[in-house]
Amino acid sequence: MEFSATGGHRREGCVLLRVLLIFSALLLGAIPLSAQTDLTGVWAVNLGMGDGNSIRAYLDLQQSGEQITGGVWYDYGKRPIKEGSYCDGKLHLTFILWDETPPPLGTADGTLQGDQLRLMVHLTGVEEGRGVAERTNREALALPAPLPLPKLHDVPDNGLVRTPPMGWNSWNKFAEKIDDISVRGMADAMVSSGMRDAGYTYINIDDTWEGPRDAQGNITGNLKFPNMKGLVDYVHSKGLKIGIYSGPGPRTCGGYEGSYGHEEQDAKTYAAWGFDYLKYDWCSAGRIYKDSDMRAVYQKMGDALQATGRPIVFSLCQYGNDDVWNWGAKVGGNLWRTTGDITDHWKRMDQIGFKQFEIASYWQVGHWNDPDMLEIGNGGMTADEYRTHMSLWSMLAAPLLAGNDLRTMSDETKSILMNKEVIAIDQDTSAKPIKKISEQGKLVVAARPLKDKTWAVGLFNRGDATAKMSVNWSDLGLHGKLQVRDLWAHKDLGKVADQFSAEVPAHGVMLVLIKR
Ligand code: GLA
Repeated sequence: MEFSATGGHRREGCVLLRVLLIFSALLLGAIPLSAQTDLTGVWAVNLGMGDGNSIRAYLDLQQSGEQITGGVWYDYGKRPIKEGSYCDGKLHLTFILWDETPPPLGTADGTLQGDQLRLMVHLTGVEEGRGVAERTNREALALPAPLPLPKLHDVPDNGLVRTPPMGWNSWNKFAEKIDDISVRGMADAMVSSGMRDAGYTYINIDDTWEGPRDAQGNITGNLKFPNMKGLVDYVHSKGLKIGIYSGPGPRTCGGYEGSYGHEEQDAKTYAAWGFDYLKYDWCSAGRIYKDSDMRAVYQKMGDALQATGRPIVFSLCQYGNDDVWNWGAKVGGNLWRTTGDITDHWKRMDQIGFKQFEIASYWQVGHWNDPDMLEIGNGGMTADEYRTHMSLWSMLAAPLLAGNDLRTMSDETKSILMNKEVIAIDQDTSAKPIKKISEQGKLVVAARPLKDKTWAVGLFNRGDATAKMSVNWSDLGLHGKLQVRDLWAHKDLGKVADQFSAEVPAHGVMLVLIKR
């Protein structure tokens, strides 16, 4: 919507400018305006990103008058141009970053200078890049062929993460600005803050660690990660485990080296370095394989990890495509993303979190739905909103992977991430699914049966004003007087008959434990 308005204004402005130019040219009897260059064709660009790395991208443009259609190719695959205009040497495009409703958008602005388009590209949230695009031929869009895929079989359960994994991941806060020193700092802080003792175990390096392959094709760390084995040993020496990131395509989402054609070799390298966890991100594999190939593609890495003989948690990241919850466990997956990326905004967290109920029955011991990592402490939400985030993720038996800077956490952030009573819900060994008890407009009551015949009940107020909310014991199949404990106030509220009610702040939660 926002863009159409901008695009519309741009085009009107452009038309106005042309009319004025023609008018003044006529008045002055000047030479006629030369026709605008036609941008139709394929343009290649190396986008220089903030961290000194570059992403290869292509613009596949069709021009009709001042309208531009077509697509932008980068490592997520070919993304359609939503709106495009070109006038008086200025190109403006908005394109869809990945499939989701509503789709996140990127923008590209270019200025034509001679045969070159000087581009400034914004990829939602974290990344922006600049580069000079030049014309190339259509063959440049060709990709490596899909690799032969294995026959489907069930990869045996690796016996890991009997409760949802807990830890930290570099992406949400640091994106590409992560390095060896910061990861070590995070491991130190995990211990000194008490997070390790609260159950957080994995220190996970996300994308942008990857360097070139050596002469034998072995992956190496880049300049930010000069000594992978040393880093792994350091994290292990703190009593923690450590995770790494790759994907089945030639390029990761950040444009770094992927595991395409090196799956077994990379699994062996990770095991030799001593990694305990792999997040495996679909990304550019989407340009090579069909969605229906996903299971076989992931199985290939599932088998490769098991063949190393090292226990390595396998985290599938393909944004919930192809109903991954039906087959994630069969490829050896310990967790599988169920959505596109989270951001540090109430709207996005709320949209993702409350969409998870219908697939709750698919999680099982050792194999978890993953609605993406935590944003708690990153600053884009209020304390109430972060308590909702933590409560909901725990009720959903979601992996609890903190995504903030552990070295500089406020006391409030610590109290949210380390609320042991809430963590206990997440880590409940019975792994029973959550149930939506009621939904009235923006008021959602959800409950999850826990071991020892207790219940966790969340009164979630997704609305913008304080609301009175309640739950009837009969909705849980219970009756009589029951013990209620407020898990955020850490307070017993005594025995309550028939139903429990509470005032719940906007975007907030009342999370209680119910005992007979
Ligand atoms: C994808 C994933 C994110 C993160 C980035 C890294 O967007 O969904 O979680 O790993 O790639 O490039």
